[in-house]
Amino acid sequence: METRILPAQAPETIPTAAEILRAGGLVALPTETVYGLGANGLDEHAVAKIFLAKGRPQDNPLILHVAAPEQIDQLCHSVPEAAYALAKAFWPGPLTMVLPARAFIPRATTAGLPTVALRCPDNAVTREIIRQAGVPVAAPSANLSGKPSTTTAAHVYADHNGRIDAIVDGGPCRVGVESTIVDLTESRPRLLRPGGVTPEQLTAVLGDLTVDKAVTAQIDKDAVVKAPGMKYRHYAPQAPVTIVAGEREQAAAFIRRNFVPGDRVLCFQEELPLYAGCAPLAYGSEADAATLSAGLFAALRELDDPAVHQIYARCPVGGAEPTEKSRCFPHSKPGGISMIIGITGGTGCGKTTLLEVVRELGGVGLDCDRIYHELLETDPTLLARIARRFPGTVEQGTLQRKKLGSLVFADPAALEDLNRITHQAVYSKVAALLTPPPDLAAIDAIALFESGLYKLCRVTVAVTAPREARLQRIMARDGVPREYALQRVRAQQDDAFFTQRCDYTLENDSDSNAFRKKCLAFCRTLEGWEHK
Ligand code: TXA
Ligand code: MG
Repeated sequence: METRILPAQAPETIPTAAEILRAGGLVALPTETVYGLGANGLDEHAVAKIFLAKGRPQDNPLILHVAAPEQIDQLCHSVPEAAYALAKAFWPGPLTMVLPARAFIPRATTAGLPTVALRCPDNAVTREIIRQAGVPVAAPSANLSGKPSTTTAAHVYADHNGRIDAIVDGGPCRVGVESTIVDLTESRPRLLRPGGVTPEQLTAVLGDLTVDKAVTAQIDKDAVVKAPGMKYRHYAPQAPVTIVAGEREQAAAFIRRNFVPGDRVLCFQEELPLYAGCAPLAYGSEADAATLSAGLFAALRELDDPAVHQIYARCPVGGAEPTEKSRCFPHSKPGGISMIIGITGGTGCGKTTLLEVVRELGGVGLDCDRIYHELLETDPTLLARIARRFPGTVEQGTLQRKKLGSLVFADPAALEDLNRITHQAVYSKVAALLTPPPDLAAIDAIALFESGLYKLCRVTVAVTAPREARLQRIMARDGVPREYALQRVRAQQDDAFFTQRCDYTLENDSDSNAFRKKCLAFCRTLEGWEHK
């Protein structure tokens, strides 16, 4: 197919794009944030084409773009007042609201959720196209899967030439980062994704905002910040913070080069466009010093999340050369380097083999799954924390697993809370077991990154295996039927999650003896411990 470029200002652009959308085609549209890859959001076949063009089977729900706030009630039910207030304050603009979806919105758009995300973009041509199309336009950011967001028509052309019907060229996007997403379907508004509209701006309208994992963004307003240093320490996030000194552009280039998914960037409002695709979080405007301190604390709180594994920020003063503050290894000791290996990967991949090899080499092998279960039996502090968050789940010092399971099973926020509590307990236990640091140790943890345990490691290793081999291993080891093993594998992170974050990947793709040898060879290549 030939991809037509339609200049935003050309008279035939709006009716042509609207007609393509109505006919079930794909049109890339400019918005103030990034270019979107649009299709008729009420036509599941059209929406399916978006996923094909983006190059991934996507079960991630899409944002429906509307021409005006009036469409909220056509597409959603039980709309809270807050939605109208936010629309009034920020639409058209970089804000997306999640609301209860009317039943006619296809599953392809909502990914089967009872809710739908709505946004009215701040681009007059795009809004007029949506209005003339007469349907809401489902549009993810137009980048190919795995590529950075597209902020010019040329980016879109490079990714999609020949795969989509048309690109409306509206010049470069003003904001450069995707919209802020707020969920208004729970009892309290909840920030799901930071973006062009800041938490402070939202709070000003809503009076209340839960940031991400039920962590309030609103800093205790009554607390007078007497010593910012203390406040900072108090709210220091668990992920390492890398401060990059240097000029704005130079520092940004350095950070963009080093950024991997899971990292976050803390910056000024004015710098957001420099960090498109790098999950930036603005903590205030450089031009308005008054917003900075409150914004910084709120931002640090938001980033204090086990899912964040590295935070970058620019130090506005300092040398011209970007310099990275080195990551600190709590377990390096004077006169010798202790080698602590973090092992992660999905169930059944063979992490235990590497752990055993480390033990055979005389190292300490810590199995976090086991530690976790032992703590649940024996650690009164952990049980007290669980009991406080989930009343009634601990009876006479014993955890009522079924009760707890039923509480967290259907409630992702509750599950996140439970994970945070248990991750912290396991982290403390592992840190204690590695003090004083042994010469060689390995930590086997499926949640190596979510728990922050990777911070104790000098190197991290992802162990992967073909799916069929994993299934066979889980079935044999745990005596469960295939369907059950499959469910477990599906519920876990995919290989890319682990391999992107780890320093090394070991593929367990042949027989167990060969993999053991591979693990041994790997350990021998690691410098630092064998020279002692
Ligand atoms: O700025 C933007 O928002 C751009 C432009 C094109 O409008 N669009 C965009 O779409 O970023 P996309 O598909 O890259 O990101 C949509 C995000 C996803 O993270 C998705 O999980 C979330 O919105 N989302 C969509 N519907 C949701 C829902 N019902 N509940 C929670 N999250 C939802
Ligand atoms: Mg995207």
